[in-house]
Amino acid sequence: MPIITFSADGQSFEVPEGISLLEFSLANETPMRFGCTLGSCGTCCFVPESGAENLSEMEDEERDALELHTDEEGARLGCLVGILGDVTIRQDDGP
Ligand code: FES
Repeated sequence: MPIITFSADGQSFEVPEGISLLEFSLANETPMRFGCTLGSCGTCCFVPESGAENLSEMEDEERDALELHTDEEGARLGCLVGILGDVTIRQDDGP
């Protein structure tokens, strides 16, 4: 099973392959922050420090939302990604 590591506190979780980061985070106490959970507010924006290739492919909805909320290279939206393999996630402090 894939392992997600959160660089903020070093916590790691084994997750079922293909699960959405949102679904997993809601069911477990991960340090991820979410807002709308619909891909529009940008609260769940994060950067994969490693394993970016192990996230689900970015679709237009996510790309459009990211353009509005961040100019950070490689950023993704936690509420729209699926976990396909090991990944390390950095989520900066919100506003
Ligand atoms: S929680 Fe709002 S965009 Fe993901």
